[in-house]
Amino acid sequence: MPKQLEWTRRAALRLAWLGVIAASALTIEPLLKYLTSKEDRLQSPLVAYNKPLVVSSDWQNTANARVWVKQDSLGVMALVATCTHLGCEVHYQPETKEWLCPCHGSIYDLEGRPVSGPAPKALPRVAVERKADGSLMINTSKLVGMDTRL
Ligand code: FES
Repeated sequence: MPKQLEWTRRAALRLAWLGVIAASALTIEPLLKYLTSKEDRLQSPLVAYNKPLVVSSDWQNTANARVWVKQDSLGVMALVATCTHLGCEVHYQPETKEWLCPCHGSIYDLEGRPVSGPAPKALPRVAVERKADGSLMINTSKLVGMDTRL
């Protein structure tokens, strides 16, 4: 009987060890995604956009992968595609009009409002100005409200 008890203890320890390995593998993937994301650490908070925008355009990516601009009937707006949970880069899905975070699965609607997942608040909106030559200058250090337009 003691031999059977030892085998059971050994089996339980192996099972526990496998559980630790499986749990580690599950937590490492989001960590690696976070660490290897194409984060464009800004040298400057200013990002230029000089392509034409049309009214009711879809979100357009700027020279900085995380900064996006869009125009609706009220004007031009810009957001930073950084997840409000832990800062991963979120990806725009034009076919579903959603923003998805690959790290923990947060989903934001077209306007950047969180609809599911752990993200606590909307994607940050930032200020946009039009320069004399007609191009846009996005100031990522200046947060604005969801309704703010240029
Ligand atoms: S970083 Fe956790 S859901 Fe985006």
